[in-house]
Amino acid sequence: MDVYGLVGNPVGHSLSAPMHEAAYDAQDIDAVYLTFEPEPSSLDLAISGAEALGIAGLNVTVPFKESVIEYVEPDDQAAALGAVNTIDFSTRGEARGYNTDVDGVSRALASRGVSLSDADAVVLGAGGAGRAAAWALAEAGASVTVVNRTVSRAETVAALVDGRATGLDDLGDVVRNSTVLVHTTTVGMESDRSLVPPEALHANLTVLDAVYRPLQTRLLRDAKAAGATTIDGARMLLYQGAAAFEHWTGTTAPVEAMDRAVRTQLDDAHG
Ligand code: ATR
Repeated sequence: MDVYGLVGNPVGHSLSAPMHEAAYDAQDIDAVYLTFEPEPSSLDLAISGAEALGIAGLNVTVPFKESVIEYVEPDDQAAALGAVNTIDFSTRGEARGYNTDVDGVSRALASRGVSLSDADAVVLGAGGAGRAAAWALAEAGASVTVVNRTVSRAETVAALVDGRATGLDDLGDVVRNSTVLVHTTTVGMESDRSLVPPEALHANLTVLDAVYRPLQTRLLRDAKAAGATTIDGARMLLYQGAAAFEHWTGTTAPVEAMDRAVRTQLDDAHG
């Protein structure tokens, strides 16, 4: 039996276990997906121990995505982003690191037929998710504007993709002139709020919200009301997981089964 898992601290409400186990069921793969919560000071031991024990692959989440890069061989994309969220141990002696958050954004948009080449895209937020989103959009040929409360953080992310950076005061104008918006801040998780002025949203816009709890955020409801195309955070999570599955198994991920598992969990949690 193959053992996969998620390393984070805390990993409490992760959807990755049910999502990956649904994929193993769908493809008759004899595997389990567990969660691990090492102390931050023990990350190096956790990674080398996992490899020594023959664990097949790990996802990595907060607070380890940046620090784990020291203990793996990142591919070019993960190295450029400075963050790894997927480790493949299948080549003995070489823990390979990937960043599938980028795939989550690009495949979620592609799955809705959103065209990114020469598009004007805006990334709202400049944390790890914002960085991955900016990379995904730029890689697909969009010109990217990063908007963030703390402008210096937006500038750091924009520099990575040759994009522009600005603060929240300009958000309305930037959104009005864009065809794609990816929201990556935490606003909308705990409270029914959105940073985007509703009047800036328009029918020529696709809005991807990285927030998946709740699924129907204020931003997505406002976007729908404005006639925009909307993509929820569960879809981004799904394609991030699908890309990890594909690195680990070398086979195409059963995305429908994985999607059902994620949405069942989210429905259970929120009625
Ligand atoms: P992650 O790595 O998961 O993307 P993060 O690094 O904590 O998370 O980033 C959170 C993002 O949400 C940041 O862009 C943050 O803005 P700052 O860089 O200015 O802190 C943004 N954010 C969080 N709370 C916010 C709020 N109340 N208003 C605007 N932006 C907020």
